[in-house]
Amino acid sequence: MIEETMLTPEVRAIISELRGKYIKTERDRAFRGTFDRLLECDEEGNLIAKPAKCIATGETRGIVVTAGAGGGKTSLVRHALKKHPALQPCETAAMPCVTISVPCPATSKSVGKALLKATGVPAKSGNRTAQDIWDDVAFRFKLLGTVVVWIDEAHDVFPQSSKSEAPDILKTLKRLMQGESAVIVILSGVDRLWTNVCFDDQVSRRYFPIALPQVFGATDCKRLWAILGGYCGRAGLEPPERGDLMERLVHAGRQRFGRCVEQMIDAIEIALVRGDAKLDIRHFADAFFAREGCQRRCCVTLTAGDSHRESMRLDGSHEQASSRPLPHDELVQP
Ligand SMILES: Nc1ncnc2c1ncn2[C@@H]1O[C@H](COP(=O)(O)OP(=O)(O)OP(=O)(O)O)[C@@H](O)[C@H]1O
Ligand SMILES: [Mg+2]
Repeated sequence: MIEETMLTPEVRAIISELRGKYIKTERDRAFRGTFDRLLECDEEGNLIAKPAKCIATGETRGIVVTAGAGGGKTSLVRHALKKHPALQPCETAAMPCVTISVPCPATSKSVGKALLKATGVPAKSGNRTAQDIWDDVAFRFKLLGTVVVWIDEAHDVFPQSSKSEAPDILKTLKRLMQGESAVIVILSGVDRLWTNVCFDDQVSRRYFPIALPQVFGATDCKRLWAILGGYCGRAGLEPPERGDLMERLVHAGRQRFGRCVEQMIDAIEIALVRGDAKLDIRHFADAFFAREGCQRRCCVTLTAGDSHRESMRLDGSHEQASSRPLPHDELVQP
C-alpha cells in the first residue's frame, strides 16, 4: 500500500494529471459514428442539437453501450457527450444532455426523480405518482432543450428479484423517444445489459448495441506500450523493459482498457513514491496486489521470473490468452 505521507504534492500533481488525461481509441470513433446517425443535420450538413426521427413514426433511436466493469464505458460516453460540437449548452438549449446513474433501488419513481433532479428540480414532497414525475421530466427536457438522456449503470434497472420495475421504466423511456420533444436515450452498463434490454423486441429494436471490445492481441499491446511511454515521459521515469509486460498487464487488467490504464498509473505512482528512476515490473505487481487486495505470493501474473506462458496458465499463444478472459480465481492463484 502507498503511504500517504510519501505522496508529495509533486507526485500527486503528476498522478492527477495522468488520471485526468483521456485517451482516444478506435472505440471513440465507433461510438461517434453510431451516435451521429441519431442526430439531424442542417442544410450545410453540420450536425445539430436535434434528434433524427424515423419519418414514419416520429420516433428517435437510442444506444446501449456495454463492457465489463472497468472497460471504460462511463469515461467514453462522458467524453463523447461533453466534447460533441452539437451538444454544447447554448441560449436555446441550456441542457442538451441530462445524465444520471441509476439510483438504488431502481423503481420507476426513483429513476424519474433522479432525472428530474439532474435537470435542477429538487424532489417534491407528497405522494406523487410515477406518471406525475415523468410528466415533469418530459416538461423539463422540453424547457431545457434536452436532446440526449444518458443513464449509466443501467443494468441496475434490472434487479434479479421478481419485483423489477424494468419493463415500466423502459416503456416510459420509449415514450420519451416519441413526440415533438423526443430525446435520444443512451443506456450504459455491464455486458448483461443488452440481454436484459432484449427482454422485449419493442424495446430492443429502438436501440443500437455497442459492445466495447476487450483489449486484445498484439495491436492493442502496442498501443498500451505507446501510452505507457507517454505516461513515463510525463512522470520523468525511464520506461520499463518491454518483454511481455504488456501481455501480463492485459491479463491482469481482465482485458479491459480502463483497468489496464488504471494499473499503469498505479505502477507509476508507486515508482514515484519510492523515488525510483525507472519503472519496472515490480511496480506493476505491487499495484496489482494493492488493487486486488491480495499478497504478492498469491499471484504469479505480474511477478518477474516466471515465464509468460506459465503465468498465464495457458497452453497456447498470446492470441489464445487474449481470446479468453480469465476469471478471478484463475488469475489469482492460491
Ligand atoms: N479512454 C480512457 N482514457 C483514459 N482513462 C480511461 C479511459 N477509459 C477508461 N479510463 C480509466 O479507467 C477507469 C475505469 O473506466 P470507467 O469508469 O469509464 O469504466 P466503466 O466501464 O464505466 O466501469 P464500471 O463498470 O465499473 O462503471 C477509470 O479510472 C478511467 O479513468
Ligand atoms: Mg461506469
